[in-house]
Amino acid sequence: MIVDSVLTNAKACLNGQIVDCSIAVEEGKIQKIGKETQMPNADEKTSLKNLLVLPGLIDEHVHLRDQGKAYKEDFTSGTAAAAAGGFTTVLDMPNNEPVTMSVYTLRNRMELAESKALVNVGFYSEFPKKLDTLPEVFSEGAVGFKLFMGSQIGGLNIDQDEDLADAFKLAAEVNAPVAVHAEDRALLWTNEERLKQAKKIGLAAFQEAHSETVEVKAIERLLKISDPTGVHLHFCHVSTDGGLNAIAEAKKAGRKITCEVTPNHLLLSADDLVHYGQLVVMAPPLRSQSHVEALWKGLHAGSIDAIGSDHAPHTLREKSAASVWDVKVGVPGLETTLPLFMTLIRKNQLAITQVVQLLAEKPSQIYGLIDRGVLEQGKNADFTVVDFSQKFKIDASKFKSKAKYSPYDGWEVSGKPVKTYVNGLLVFDEGEIIAKPGSGSIIRRANP
Ligand code: DOR
Ligand code: ZN
Ligand code: ZN
Repeated sequence: MIVDSVLTNAKACLNGQIVDCSIAVEEGKIQKIGKETQMPNADEKTSLKNLLVLPGLIDEHVHLRDQGKAYKEDFTSGTAAAAAGGFTTVLDMPNNEPVTMSVYTLRNRMELAESKALVNVGFYSEFPKKLDTLPEVFSEGAVGFKLFMGSQIGGLNIDQDEDLADAFKLAAEVNAPVAVHAEDRALLWTNEERLKQAKKIGLAAFQEAHSETVEVKAIERLLKISDPTGVHLHFCHVSTDGGLNAIAEAKKAGRKITCEVTPNHLLLSADDLVHYGQLVVMAPPLRSQSHVEALWKGLHAGSIDAIGSDHAPHTLREKSAASVWDVKVGVPGLETTLPLFMTLIRKNQLAITQVVQLLAEKPSQIYGLIDRGVLEQGKNADFTVVDFSQKFKIDASKFKSKAKYSPYDGWEVSGKPVKTYVNGLLVFDEGEIIAKPGSGSIIRRANP
């Protein structure tokens, strides 16, 4: 047999161990992993020169924008940023223009991405206006439903417990995970109104409005409503000690609950607002050091399942509005996450197996991406190749993302993504995107 390609001299992360091996690829899938002498003949042979090979990383939380918000990011720039950051699969959030919340909007978004994407892209949908169309939206291939609790975005009335319970029941019936942005709309709104009345327009006011209670209240409310429904809730960007505790308790009780944290909430704190100012305004906001420590503790204790970058690109002008209430929330994260976590491995704060679990294995399990997330015969040939010893300074001006800024700009890191293979195709090589837009594939979740 002659396969498409063989990658030799890989140091691959297999079953929690780093193993010297070669990998044969045929029709976009891993055909074999083994010694070089056991490899089939191939049309192409590439030596990976003892670089580290991880299962293609999955960023389960990105805002690729495009359509009405393409000035901030589009499918090509966003997936170029993914490939350059070592991500082979990204899951796109639905708060777009138009909002992804129906078979029609989902299909349109998939079609547009099909011709523009450089990596694999899966899509969340908000809950549809007509709840009974939820199974159709899921069959169309959404990876799951997003529930934004901070304001009314999707078709579900987030103020009504009964409506939420109905939605959860239906999602549970079709086995669809529900990713939650947990901030209590009513409390957030009351806080904001009070502060706006008092003419407070600075960072402190934003922090106060998005208080810890705003997050904890939403998490506790949803854990209660969802309990009898058996739905799988996945809490995005958990940022508080109290929120994480409530989640950990629910997990201990055997419930189907998972959660994510972002690199920002692990590596920055509210103290950094002084230095970075409005650039690091995000929702949920950066928290005090005690919360950061609680997240780290939770991560090591296994209560945190996944890391999502919450890649949230905006223009610099949008980030520098005169009033904090007009600042667009979020920062880009696709091109900083892997180097930051590789650096933590070097500092012995994390093990490589933890990073692979948080950024590949668990996201693939949570979203039913059964062909991805591990290096194994028969899985898709998605590889993240890292030069673990390469030290460099993060340079946001070189980002492939349209958002060319970052709180990590200038940070000294070690561990550079050097090659990114998507379905067997080398998409990113030594700083350059070498594949054509449209070479990435659209993920339609295989409904179990
Ligand atoms: O920081 C954030 N950015 N939080 C959100 O909830 C939305 C996101 C965005 O779309 O920019
Ligand atoms: Zn969010
Ligand atoms: Zn987000």
